[in-house]
Amino acid sequence: MCGIVAYTGFRVAAPLLVEGLKRLEYRGYDSAGLAIASREGFSIYKQAGKVSALARTIEGIAPIGHTGIAHTRWATHGAPTDANAHPHISYDGEIVLVHNGIIENYAALRSHLSEKGITFSSETDTEVLTHWIAWTRQQYPNSSWEEIIRRAFAPIEGTFGVALLVRSHPDLIVLVRRFSPLLIGIGEGELIAASDATAIIPYTRRVIHLEENEAALLYGGRSEPKLFSLGEKQRTPQVEYIDWDLASIERGGYPHYMLKEIFEQPTALRDCMRGRIRQEPLEVRLGGISNVMDRILSAQRLTLVGCGTSWHAALVGEYLIEQLARVPVEVEYASEFRYRDPVIGPSDVVVGISQSGETADTLAALRLAKHKDALVLGITNVVGSSIPRETHAGIYIHAGPEIGVASTKAFTAQLTALTLFALHLGASRYAINRHLHDTLIETLLRLPELIQETLQKLNEPVQTLAEKFMHASNALYLGRGYNFPVALEGALKLKEISYIHAEGYPAAEMKHGPIALIDAGMPVIVIALRDSLYEKVLGNIQEVRARGGQVIAIATEGDTHIQHYAEEVLYVPDVPEPLSPILTVLPLQLLAYHAAVMRGCDVDQPRNLAKSVTVE
Ligand code: F6R
Repeated sequence: MCGIVAYTGFRVAAPLLVEGLKRLEYRGYDSAGLAIASREGFSIYKQAGKVSALARTIEGIAPIGHTGIAHTRWATHGAPTDANAHPHISYDGEIVLVHNGIIENYAALRSHLSEKGITFSSETDTEVLTHWIAWTRQQYPNSSWEEIIRRAFAPIEGTFGVALLVRSHPDLIVLVRRFSPLLIGIGEGELIAASDATAIIPYTRRVIHLEENEAALLYGGRSEPKLFSLGEKQRTPQVEYIDWDLASIERGGYPHYMLKEIFEQPTALRDCMRGRIRQEPLEVRLGGISNVMDRILSAQRLTLVGCGTSWHAALVGEYLIEQLARVPVEVEYASEFRYRDPVIGPSDVVVGISQSGETADTLAALRLAKHKDALVLGITNVVGSSIPRETHAGIYIHAGPEIGVASTKAFTAQLTALTLFALHLGASRYAINRHLHDTLIETLLRLPELIQETLQKLNEPVQTLAEKFMHASNALYLGRGYNFPVALEGALKLKEISYIHAEGYPAAEMKHGPIALIDAGMPVIVIALRDSLYEKVLGNIQEVRARGGQVIAIATEGDTHIQHYAEEVLYVPDVPEPLSPILTVLPLQLLAYHAAVMRGCDVDQPRNLAKSVTVE
């Protein structure tokens, strides 16, 4: 949510910053801007619209400075206009600043500054912060920047990742973090900071994560930042190594990241399982939670929290853990959990599921649970992100960078990690029989290959289907049991990237309301596998057909009977029910993708959305 890049070193900053913004654009794309510092002062360019528009604006005129900051915005306070775009400059021209997050007490600060005669040229909380820091500096003219930053941020409420430049020190960048992530890439004689690693790894894989309430001074020509805390706590920073390579953050010949990531699912699953399955006897090993296994085993229940697609993964997790480990599971939207004073205590285990590891509501829910002495775990993709740093233990899904705003490979990797967790828990509790345990592990190991075959087989037929589908203005997705959450996920994928309104429902619930929507123009996608609920789902399909609905079935390979019930059938391989969501979601991802492309939508950057939601 909003992307920041900052650079100081020997390279020309402007092209590097634009390149970095392009890599971060999936975090927000309402407006973009950059500032370059030099002895002559600041050069600032900013405008509404995408990074490519900014790049065109500065072509041929960008200054040759070596220190600069840049920002791509997802609007919170103020519409996406040129005036509201970052960077903002302070009233005395001393500071230029970019910001992720929300300054909650900006109105109070604004009126305080107005009383001092300071005027504002935008509606943003960020401009208020910029003036506030400049004003604080004027009150303490002989103070170091360390002191000024401590004083200026002491009364600030809210969340921020901030990068700022100072006119009187044109080779200095100041970074400040509370909640919104910032990493510093450590190069040889250069430092590059960003909201996430994708903007850094073309230059270095050695990074320092800024911690909560921490700030850093980056001086030009140095290879080490100077870190300091906004409070009392000081620490010796650790340089960490990011093992993503450049290819993993490029499109690699695919027209969109989303399609690339759909086709990366076999690799994502292999990486998720690597080193976690032992042979003879077959068993799951999860090193990331081994230290807390005793506490997990003594828990009376597990609570899974997440948002969006990760919440859908949590719903499948509930079915998996309850069936395979026989432990009661609650699933909650992180945003609801955190505000309803949940009854949670030391005997609880709360698991946050999040691709980015930065989603504000999920992180806050986990902090709340930790505060109430629960054991908190994270199932995350981004190594070193806030959730794994703040939880007691966890499981990385190792799906590799996910850049398309619509989550695809992270979802199937989350399901894989949850299956491993459920199997491990089930085996440790002696709750699962050996035959089912071994069958599931053996099938899990075959899944990458089955996904590959399914994607290859279905891509073209789904594309043909999307040609009809693209004209729909509504769609209904139905599933039962393990595949009810997949219906929700299919509907979410469709609406977020193609803007076709879609609802996901448990198939049997349809007759309690949504059935009223069905007419001849309504495509109804039904996940109708040959599983324990097959006959029931066929009954639900009949109810749809009786009202003229157009049924598209996702069915088990070899099931010809289903053809009597559906206009279109898309087949997926036959696997045990608990693993079926990993396959049934594939045609739904492809359908959303192709329908969106045919409707001319920007698949990787759908309107109003951003990849990593770091505001509540
Ligand atoms: C949908 C999607 C979002 C995310 C949600 C949580 O395709 O990507 O719904 O799933 O914003 O994000 P994470 O998993 O990063 O916590």
